[in-house]
Amino acid sequence: METVTTVDMLRARIQFWRRGNQRIAFVPTMGNLHAGHLRLVTRARELAERVVVSVFVNPLQFGPKEDLASYPRTLEADRKALENLGVDLVFVPEVEEMYPRGLAPATRVQVPELGERLCGAFRPGHFTGVTTVVAKLFNMVQPDTALFGRKDYQQLAILRRMVADLDWPIDIEAVDTVREPDGLAMSSRNQYLDAEERRLAPQLFQTLQQLAARIRNGERDFTTLGVSAMEGLRSAGFEPEYVEVVDADSLEPPLEGRPLVVLAAARLGRTRLIDNLLV
Ligand code: PAF
Repeated sequence: METVTTVDMLRARIQFWRRGNQRIAFVPTMGNLHAGHLRLVTRARELAERVVVSVFVNPLQFGPKEDLASYPRTLEADRKALENLGVDLVFVPEVEEMYPRGLAPATRVQVPELGERLCGAFRPGHFTGVTTVVAKLFNMVQPDTALFGRKDYQQLAILRRMVADLDWPIDIEAVDTVREPDGLAMSSRNQYLDAEERRLAPQLFQTLQQLAARIRNGERDFTTLGVSAMEGLRSAGFEPEYVEVVDADSLEPPLEGRPLVVLAAARLGRTRLIDNLLV
């Protein structure tokens, strides 16, 4: 497995593979890899001759009061795990390589509306940071397929929209959330939880399961369902940001007969947790 740190080195390797008509699958990450990321990489290995993974903690997607400085960085362990899964190349740029003119003047790629609701309403600018860095990475790697986890459901919907709107010939492959045995969705941020918070954390997914069961039993007052789920989370010790039932594709208010997804975000101490469940 090759590790490259510059765009020029990355491009040279990609061009060499392209000349040999090799398909490229790409998994963008911020590192600190867990079983959820490794499932993406394993699926990527099945889809293409060449697998590229990026490890880049993207400052543009963190708000001023968020955890950019403390975000866990574990490059050596990440590299070993990726090598074991047969990854061909890991791209590990410095911030200056990705944003040579600095962050403030960097050109932005923005998906309006879809990027401003749900998590976007609580993390202004976050999704613009995500779409900007993923757009840059797509231009560098020129993958045939890119893989993202369903855990970040809104991110996945926004990136699908970006690729469609910008006419990129890239298949976006969604991979299911990997959960701990008690149901907690795997996330690099789970390690911020203390022992008591870790004990409570699976209640987020349980809340989504209960809400989904009520919808399957015929309840259709989605606003009341969301409000009562938020109350339940609050009394369990969470600070919920939202619990919403929306159309599974557009993330717009639900229409009769269409697939639904329940999405939630809640804080537990200093940790922000998100999760979702298709109904
Ligand atoms: O999901 C993530 O880890 C990040 O948002 C991504 C897609 C790697 C962009 O920085």
